[in-house]
Amino acid sequence: MSASSITPGDLDSWRALPSTQQPDWPDPARVSAVTAELAEQPPLVFAGECDQLKDRLAAVSRGEAFVLQGGDCAETFSGSTADAVRDKLETLLQMAVVLTYAASVPVVKIGRMAGQFAKPRSRPTESRDGVELPAYRGEAVNGFEFTAESRRPDPARLLHAYNCAAITLNLCRAFTNGGYADLHEVHAWNQDFVAQSPAGRRYEQLAGEIDRALSFMKACGADPEELHGVEFYSSHEGLLLEYERALTRIDSRTGMPYDVSAHLLWIGDRTRDLDGAHVEFFRHVRNPIAVKLGPTISPDTTLSLIERLNPDREPGRLALITRLGADRVRDVLPSLVEKVTQHDSPVAWICDPMHGNTFEAPSGHKTRRLEHVLDEVAGFFEVHRALGTHPGGIHVEFTGDNVTECVGGGHEIVEDDLHRRYETACDPRLNRRQSLDLAFAVAELYRGQR
Ligand code: PEP
Ligand code: CO
Repeated sequence: MSASSITPGDLDSWRALPSTQQPDWPDPARVSAVTAELAEQPPLVFAGECDQLKDRLAAVSRGEAFVLQGGDCAETFSGSTADAVRDKLETLLQMAVVLTYAASVPVVKIGRMAGQFAKPRSRPTESRDGVELPAYRGEAVNGFEFTAESRRPDPARLLHAYNCAAITLNLCRAFTNGGYADLHEVHAWNQDFVAQSPAGRRYEQLAGEIDRALSFMKACGADPEELHGVEFYSSHEGLLLEYERALTRIDSRTGMPYDVSAHLLWIGDRTRDLDGAHVEFFRHVRNPIAVKLGPTISPDTTLSLIERLNPDREPGRLALITRLGADRVRDVLPSLVEKVTQHDSPVAWICDPMHGNTFEAPSGHKTRRLEHVLDEVAGFFEVHRALGTHPGGIHVEFTGDNVTECVGGGHEIVEDDLHRRYETACDPRLNRRQSLDLAFAVAELYRGQR
């Protein structure tokens, strides 16, 4: 179907198809009331901004820019505070500076922020000590606490999620354009606990070089506007279709539907069924879209997803986020990249080195080893180098705090440390130091690619 032939009824065609991973809402009438209310709310993002991100992603698919997408696995309502949002943004900014400076590539900054409130789960229920309750599905659906009351899906949470997304995005916009993200502040983003680590010291050195470069430019009379703020985009998994549908609006400029809950929405590995509701819904909205591809993906299904989601071969419309695992990436990725390249449809290839590398530590904590994360990114770069294609970015789960959720890193966290600050509401996140370690490693890989 071509974009120009979309009709309003198409936005509801997904309702006739199987939709996986949707909550079992106890009171459907309440869901309708809430979505009607959501449909009246102002947009969180504007269609023109989504188009701008599409332009940036088109540059990524041409090999001219690199995506840095990241944030929490699952955001929480209590996490939409000024401090928490600033700390996450700082992490993103520090990583972006390392990549921009050390790899000399423009970085497209996309938060896994301001809407990442819904989670697909491998099991619908969770059992503890003989008690079985619905699984936690993200704060837009139910509570993390293991009680019957908290785990009952509550549609009022959808409104709460919208409000928290608005608060978070407002903070992000203020931090990224209100002077805080000015490149002259590059030292200020290095928090004390980070500065004492090997990655933090390396960052200080790089920040010093940037300072000198900025002073040199100033002395030459150059002070471009680009140095004083950054372009920031929001993204989350487009999982709860009632929520995404309620926040989809017809753009007055183009007459086209845009999902105004975020700039970019991705379809998860568990909901990317070709004939399922998620692909059906997202093929009709005009935002840039990404699809996560796990190790069971075939080249043929990848091509069918491309045909479904980007039939017009619009540059920047589609990103493929591979999350294959360090042990599979070198086997599985080559045939995907080859087949897609032959197909000649523009895509941005992004590596999620987190979700294929999760394991359970003896203590029972779900964790990831930084070395495995780095190895998957290295495999991603190797495959693209061998095939002459562009490794277009990374998608990571991190936080700005000094948590102990992933093991490894220059300031090493071992499995016995995990209990110290294990705070995630879902998957384990890199802490700030580990995120910087990763950024330096990726910058080196990128430089080696050229
Ligand atoms: C996620 O990004 O948190 C997630 C569930 O990913 P995937 O769809 O790749 O499993
Ligand atoms: Co996750």
